[in-house]
Amino acid sequence: MSPVKSVCFIGAGFVGGPSGAVLALKNPDVEVSVVDLSENRIAAWNSDALPIYEPGLLPVVKEARDAETRPQNLFFTTDVRGTIKRADIVFICVNTPTKTAGIGAGKAPNMAYFESATRMIAAEAEKDTIIVEKSTVPCRTAANMREILKAIGKPGVNFEILSNPEFLAEGTAVADLMRPDRILIGSMQTPSGLEAAEVLANLYGSWVPKENILKTNIWSSELAKLAANALLAQRISSINALSAICEATGADVGEIAYAAGLDSRIGSRMLQASVGFGGSCFRKDVLNLSYMAETLHLPEVAAYWQSVVAINEWQKSRFTKRIISALYGTLTGKKIAVYGFSYKKNTADTRESAAISVVKDLIAEQAKVCIYDPQVTKAQIWEELDISGCHIDDVEKFVTIAKNPYDCASDSHAVVVLTEWDDCRQVDWEQIFDIMERPAFVFDGRRVIDAGKLQRLGFHVESIGRGN
Ligand code: NAD
Ligand code: UGA
Repeated sequence: MSPVKSVCFIGAGFVGGPSGAVLALKNPDVEVSVVDLSENRIAAWNSDALPIYEPGLLPVVKEARDAETRPQNLFFTTDVRGTIKRADIVFICVNTPTKTAGIGAGKAPNMAYFESATRMIAAEAEKDTIIVEKSTVPCRTAANMREILKAIGKPGVNFEILSNPEFLAEGTAVADLMRPDRILIGSMQTPSGLEAAEVLANLYGSWVPKENILKTNIWSSELAKLAANALLAQRISSINALSAICEATGADVGEIAYAAGLDSRIGSRMLQASVGFGGSCFRKDVLNLSYMAETLHLPEVAAYWQSVVAINEWQKSRFTKRIISALYGTLTGKKIAVYGFSYKKNTADTRESAAISVVKDLIAEQAKVCIYDPQVTKAQIWEELDISGCHIDDVEKFVTIAKNPYDCASDSHAVVVLTEWDDCRQVDWEQIFDIMERPAFVFDGRRVIDAGKLQRLGFHVESIGRGN
């Protein structure tokens, strides 16, 4: 196969943008184009106000995009069709959200964007092209793609499909892409499939050590992505289930996680008890796996994975119930300061954030909710609450946004920590105590507050996984 000259990423989102930028930075001889249908998104990628907040990303983008220190090889454009025609490799990075209607609604992934991208490649490609599934997709998606490509592709044009799932986490995307634990490449085990896998491996090989590039059959690769997210989410639901036992017994879930995590077979990561996992993928991918099991007539397997999501939902509502109960059974008219709305720190992404459910429940109790988040805009919070089913009149009536944690906490009965942002954690708690109502409560949904210190200041502190 001739050397790769041009690659295209379809979907300029959290995956396509950063992945394209790092690939361009590390392969200066390859033209990398990131395309999207959204003009606003592409305009933002071409500016210094990138459409996603991701630490360390702007310098990477600028170096490859702005041609100040080297020739430009990173382009953001809405010319999807023209870019596909030039590309030797096309990465599909479009969204695959959970279906909201029809068969499998609330469980199955909506593959409409993915299929539309596949059809566009089939219709436009004029030379042999490697198509890479980077979006997270159900196992055997490549078989569906193959049929579409065969039916629509131009005569004489050959396609090779690879699965190359993305494992980056938001907030650490640049570091994850620069030093990935592994790069997984799945291909058909045919000579042309193996050759295509080698071509892709060589692109990654310009910065990823060879031993970290794993090649498998295509179905294993597709399923391995869902398996990885399901196993990570399952760890969080397991520790969160234990957190409830801790609160009832006087054990401390931090000590439990530390003690268990020292066993090298268990390991310490992803065992931080919380108000519940959020983000666009864990819930979606666990449900995707569960739905797949259902369609494969494996109801016990489906129920097992479904329970990971069920515990997560329960954890969120359990936390709000604890707030209500500690505040003497009524929140009506009480100001509640909410610290953090994004689903984790260092991202402005609010998709599936635990904060949405908690704030929704607080509104239902007629609390006066004041939210501080260093990155999330009011419009985004309003949109999430609207989508979650809150009546917009109630949002206007009960929710306000603060510019800093102090205004947020002023005259409040309780501070509720929902995201572990450093500037929420590192406030001057003595000052916060002075400006709050009495008794002053802190509910720590992230276990990032020094409960002992706050108790000495006079706070009543309730933390996930710690009994009082
Ligand atoms: P996203 O919503 O941020 O971005 C997807 C982009 O694709 C959008 O900008 C959308 O406009 C664009 N798009 C949709 N259809 C298109 C088409 N036909 N042509 C051109 N553009 C099109 O999504 P994301 O968070 O980047 O996730 C993308 C995929 O990667 C999903 O399958 C997700 O599960 C997976 N993933 C996400 C993450 C993450 O951290 N967000 C990590 C690993 C894997
Ligand atoms: C996750 C995976 O970590 C990535 O490997 C994967 O590529 C990505 O999903 C995806 O497929 O989209 P992400 O959702 O960005 O990444 O972030 P995580 O750090 O995994 O956190 C997810 C949620 O779990 C957050 O709400 C976080 O606060 C919560 N969490 C995480 C815990 O409650 N406890 C933990 O110990 C770790």
